[in-house]
Amino acid sequence: MQHKELKIVYKELTLAELSELQQKLIQQAIDATHQAYAPYSEFFVGCALQMETGEIISGSNQENTAYPSGLCAERTAIYHTGHTHPNGTIIQMAIAARSDKWDTKNPVVPCGACMQAMMEYERKQGTPIKLLLYGNAERIFELNGIQDLMPFQFELQVQTEMG
Ligand code: THU
Repeated sequence: MQHKELKIVYKELTLAELSELQQKLIQQAIDATHQAYAPYSEFFVGCALQMETGEIISGSNQENTAYPSGLCAERTAIYHTGHTHPNGTIIQMAIAARSDKWDTKNPVVPCGACMQAMMEYERKQGTPIKLLLYGNAERIFELNGIQDLMPFQFELQVQTEMG
């Protein structure tokens, strides 16, 4: 038996320590929280993605009275880029949240389903997608890629050998 260990590497930064572009991306994620439709949870999430062309695509969570039918901000945004920029490359992604009911001081971490969806886009484009996780306070977590958040992920691989 072997014990193995995995390490998650990330940076903790303040808004002032981010580049101008990253600050703009966080601001767009905050702005996107105002487009969220979240009457059930009252947790308003916004997401902004920067494409390699410099274009910014945003998304927000969209809920439904049949609860599981809603969709998180991250998947709303990333699936949108999949449709509008099928061969595009996503450079980085900022996530923010706002709520009068729930604590949003801590940086928002994408749910497991969103991580899985985001991973697929990383794999599809062949480069990591930098993550900027924000709540509504000064603290930001920066990760070099989604793979860093989810080192083990579900994958289907064609069998290469019998047995
Ligand atoms: N939500 C997101 O949009 N992104 C996350 O990273 C976590 C959760 C949404 C789903 C639901 O509409 C609400 O936040 C509360 O879970």
